[in-house]
Amino acid sequence: MLVSILAAFAAAQAAYAQATAPALDQAAQQLFFDRLYQTNLRGPRWTGNENQNTLIATVAAGMQLAGLTVETLETNFSRWDPRWWSLSLKLTNGTTLGLPTTGYWPYSGDSGLQGVTAPVHDAGSYALFPNQTANSGALNLTNLPANGTILFFDNPSPTRNYSEPGYGILGSSVPLEEIPELGNLTNPHWQSAKTLNFTQIIQLGVIGVVASWVNTSDANGALQFLPNSGAPGNGSVHYDVPGVYVGNSTGETIRQLVADNEVVSATVVLDAPTLDATTSTIIGHLNGTAGSNNTIIVYTHSDGPSIIEENGPILLLTMAEYFAANPLSINVDFVTTTGHMSGGHVNESAWMAARPDLLLNAKAAIVCEHFGAIEWKDNFTSGEPVFEPTGRYEPMWTMVNSSSASDDLHQLYLNAFEGTPDELRMAMVSPQTVNGVLSNWYGAGGSSILGYSDIPTVGIIPQPDYLWAAMVDGGWSRLDVDMAVTQIEVILRLIMSLDAQFVAGTL
Ligand SMILES: *[C@@H]1O[C@H](CO)[C@@H](O)[C@H](O)[C@H]1NC(C)=O
Ligand SMILES: *[C@@H]1O[C@H](CO)[C@@H](O)[C@H](O)[C@H]1NC(C)=O
Ligand SMILES: *[C@@H]1O[C@H](CO)[C@@H](O)[C@H](O)[C@H]1NC(C)=O
Ligand SMILES: *[C@@H]1O[C@H](CO)[C@@H](O)[C@H](O)[C@H]1NC(C)=O
Ligand SMILES: *[C@@H]1O[C@H](CO)[C@@H](O)[C@H](O)[C@H]1NC(C)=O
Ligand SMILES: *[C@@H]1O[C@H](CO)[C@@H](O)[C@H](O)[C@H]1NC(C)=O
Ligand SMILES: *[C@@H]1O[C@H](CO)[C@@H](O)[C@H](O)[C@H]1NC(C)=O
Ligand SMILES: *[C@@H]1O[C@H](CO)[C@@H](O)[C@H](O)[C@H]1NC(C)=O
Ligand SMILES: *[C@@H]1O[C@H](CO)[C@@H](O)[C@H](O)[C@H]1NC(C)=O
Ligand SMILES: *[C@@H]1O[C@H](CO)[C@@H](O)[C@H](O)[C@H]1NC(C)=O
Ligand SMILES: *[C@@H]1O[C@H](CO)[C@@H](O)[C@H](O)[C@H]1NC(C)=O
Ligand SMILES: *[C@@H]1O[C@H](CO)[C@@H](O)[C@H](O)[C@H]1NC(C)=O
Repeated sequence: MLVSILAAFAAAQAAYAQATAPALDQAAQQLFFDRLYQTNLRGPRWTGNENQNTLIATVAAGMQLAGLTVETLETNFSRWDPRWWSLSLKLTNGTTLGLPTTGYWPYSGDSGLQGVTAPVHDAGSYALFPNQTANSGALNLTNLPANGTILFFDNPSPTRNYSEPGYGILGSSVPLEEIPELGNLTNPHWQSAKTLNFTQIIQLGVIGVVASWVNTSDANGALQFLPNSGAPGNGSVHYDVPGVYVGNSTGETIRQLVADNEVVSATVVLDAPTLDATTSTIIGHLNGTAGSNNTIIVYTHSDGPSIIEENGPILLLTMAEYFAANPLSINVDFVTTTGHMSGGHVNESAWMAARPDLLLNAKAAIVCEHFGAIEWKDNFTSGEPVFEPTGRYEPMWTMVNSSSASDDLHQLYLNAFEGTPDELRMAMVSPQTVNGVLSNWYGAGGSSILGYSDIPTVGIIPQPDYLWAAMVDGGWSRLDVDMAVTQIEVILRLIMSLDAQFVAGTL
């Protein structure tokens, strides 16, 4: 007995020593770079498109080659495929005015190339309550044109504030003063919480929507896939009301022309057919040397518009290869889910029901996504918002549960940042219940189920302004590969220290 305790202690110490300095070697770093670059070349990974399916299949093959057992869970679904979109106004003086858009309203509709045409109604501002939720009564929906309407409104974005009581700060890698974003997380992607009541506007004869960005530069608003909370329309995956977004100055132009009675009609084109598609979640299982059933879950999603949003599968493959070569005692399940960009049409948590053993065996869960993100913000110094780099990296927001069972994980996670550069700013934010309302746990779909469960979980989710944006360079200019490597090494350290605890019998 004593011998086995001593042996376990020695093994734990050895594992700890190793845990202090895991590093990706040069070859692994080059491979990581190549995979990110070449994945980016193929364009956005929208749920179920060819590029996403290629990424998933390639990562699955890479894990298999490294020696993992890989299971694929396939889902068939209807994929909304936006292709061409545009906006024009027919004016009373006979001119047709073509206007720039910043993008489309996801899952809004499909007009075909001919578009939908109707008079324009300015519904004012889709305002926010002080608590940053949408004030659905704010839109002016009275006296709409009789025979069909293009509904126009300005659409201010919510802001998040992690300094408010809904979130507790349980630790950070740098002093909190170095993370001012905590109290002011401006970000167009919070628009995702602001859906429209399409049922209501269809009843009022609305056949198209034009929404205008507020307090956001055109560059920052460009091709934001928002709101991402789509829902089935009348028998289809979209709402049957094609919608586009315009920049603020274009919105002001429309508002003025409508007020001056210079607009006969607007034509909204959103050619976006619905296609049959297949998408997959993959589970790569790596056996530990102990031969137990205990695991650590490392989790991410594979679909997204940019090389930041969904670099998770490549992060996980890199970690899987590292631990295949440097074996752990505990098992690891690397889970890459799909459905994040499906507007809710593919259930991102379906793997939890398909494989209940995964959660039962898990001793800890780590959610990894959006590594290497360079911070860009609108700068209002000149009076007009100008979208530019701030010279910093996006904070590594980390959702954590505040149950005492998770204290150890939090401490190991903080320790894993020892020796990392000050530019790597991490804050652990813990969703709290205030007035009976539990704050949101953000991250890859289903990570909140892990976070609210008994499984100690860290959910890492850097949240750049461009998170949900498609970019002509795929987001390559926003990605710092060296920083992503540093972040991977933090996770390698964390997993090795969890493994040391497992060996010592304290996990
Ligand atoms: C998905 O569709 C393909 C082609 O129609 C079919 O072969 C496959 O069995 C379907 N998969 C599932 C999970 O239904
Ligand atoms: C029609 O009105 C628009 C907007 O006021 C103006 O830009 C355009 O020059 C006018 N076209 C003609 C032919 O007057
Ligand atoms: C936000 O404020 C509005 C208006 O006061 C209120 O109706 C709503 O319940 C609040 N929402 C939350 C989540 O607190
Ligand atoms: C709402 O819009 C209609 C049609 O433009 C207008 O007649 C009405 O005055 C507006 N109501 C408010 C409260 O602005
Ligand atoms: C609306 O459509 C009906 C039926 O097509 C037509 O009789 C009526 O004149 C139209 N009204 C307007 C304001 O265009
Ligand atoms: C965020 O909340 C904190 C604490 O209530 C407050 O001091 C700060 O001003 C808030 N930030 C913004 C942008 O309102
Ligand atoms: C919040 O940040 C935005 C831009 O990032 C800035 O314009 C604004 O002044 C900030 N607000 C506060 C209260 O710090
Ligand atoms: C949406 O509008 C419909 C019709 O006006 C109404 O019955 C429904 O309650 C509204 N839904 C929400 C979520 O407000
Ligand atoms: C443009 O932005 C300003 C705030 O910067 C806002 O007050 C205005 O309503 C916006 N207009 C439109 C049409 O979006
Ligand atoms: C992993 O371990 C299980 C149970 O110990 C065993 O059945 C399986 O063959 C192992 N897989 C690999 C790839 O070694
Ligand atoms: C591991 O799980 C399998 C399948 O549920 C079970 O048969 C086996 O007894 C378990 N092994 C250990 C060591 O708990
Ligand atoms: C914002 O822009 C001004 C120049 O207009 C510049 O001096 C300032 O450094 C910028 N702020 C940030 C945070 O980059």
